[in-house]
Amino acid sequence: MSKTIAGFSKLNKSEKIDWIIDTYFSNTPNAKTILTQYWNSDEKLQQLHDEFIENTITNYYLPLGVAPNFLINNQLYTIPMAIEESSVVAAASKAAKFWLDRGGFKTSVISTTKIGQVHFIYKGDYNKLQQFFKAVKPKLISDTAAITANMEKRGGGILDIELRDKTEDISGYYQLHASFETLDAMGANFINSCLEQFAKTFKSDALNFDLFSEEERQIDIVMSILSNYVPDCLVRAEVNCHVDDLVEKDTISGRAFAEKFVQAVSIAEKEPYRAVTHNKGIMNGIDAVILATGNDFRAVEAGVHAYAAKNGRYSSLTHAKIENDIFSFWIEVPLALGTVGGLTSLHPLVKLSLEMLGKPSAKELMQIVAVAGLAQNFAALRSLTTTGIQQGHMKMHLMNILNQFEASKEEKAVLTEHFKNNTVSHSAVVDAIENLRANN
Ligand code: MEV
Repeated sequence: MSKTIAGFSKLNKSEKIDWIIDTYFSNTPNAKTILTQYWNSDEKLQQLHDEFIENTITNYYLPLGVAPNFLINNQLYTIPMAIEESSVVAAASKAAKFWLDRGGFKTSVISTTKIGQVHFIYKGDYNKLQQFFKAVKPKLISDTAAITANMEKRGGGILDIELRDKTEDISGYYQLHASFETLDAMGANFINSCLEQFAKTFKSDALNFDLFSEEERQIDIVMSILSNYVPDCLVRAEVNCHVDDLVEKDTISGRAFAEKFVQAVSIAEKEPYRAVTHNKGIMNGIDAVILATGNDFRAVEAGVHAYAAKNGRYSSLTHAKIENDIFSFWIEVPLALGTVGGLTSLHPLVKLSLEMLGKPSAKELMQIVAVAGLAQNFAALRSLTTTGIQQGHMKMHLMNILNQFEASKEEKAVLTEHFKNNTVSHSAVVDAIENLRANN
């Protein structure tokens, strides 16, 4: 039975667990063991994880896998991926191997600008607001000097601030729309600190602006926050090869495969129901690398899907064509990533993942992540347009079912062999386990 509690965050970890066990698990004798068995025996490491968030009671593991053989701009990478979905790493590895023999992936960063906004309400003459903005703009920038000094030293900082009139949408609503270059940092703290300073300066200087009436001086700041929509922080990844080189097995000609593939992509370009699933597959690859490298997958997800709908209809993030017998497949995707700051310097596995990637700059990581998305989509479409997705999925699913039934190493070996020639379904696996156990 659920109940409320005051001051939960003030309890220590063990008291929190006791309350949880008491409230929810009085009939689950092993609940406490389940929670505590995920604790790390290294106390310092456990404390690090405890302090990532409030009210930590245990750790929640995700597998960290690797997909080797990614050739990106003629350089080889093994890509770390943190994900629970069984087929994702296998699919990425397969796509990497496929393109390794066909020239690999080519990538480029198109732009790296990030956006933040101060949203405010002003009830007065727009001309006067424009004049005030013009007068205060240099001060908006100079008042952030302490925040921007380090970033500027490295070549980044505030790029511009614009005043935007949004009164057609909401009465009295305006924005300071600012653009930033944050280099290797994802930049959320930097951008938000700058915005909050803009808001302070803007509001207080308005009080002394001669042209404003008493009412006009009362600028009401609603909020100051970065935008996770980053259409100008964009990266492109692509693969190309002659259509004949697409043949892997003799079941389908390279050209026939390419044509079907292009068709599948155009369906996702036109049909939102398909586009969402198509893009979900892309995000399988993108999110897994984002997580492994300690970046914010919610921010990336939000920005990517907004970008997918930028023309007013949700559409595919990838595109494909055949021109002069050359098959091309590419993605353009907005990715605001960091390789310094945040979890990147805190989480030991994140540090290791970044090291495995050769300590990339944010720009390099954008390219690697875009490749992971493109590779994932290639693998999915290749299965979908040839064998169907279930063959591969169910093979991976087999292991999950076997684990669910606590199959031993020997049982796993026998049943994996058995299902090489038999269709995997949940009931078929259960029957096979039961048969095996009955006969032993
Ligand atoms: C499953 O996680 C992802 C796919 O559905 C993607 C797709 O349909 O393209 C296989």
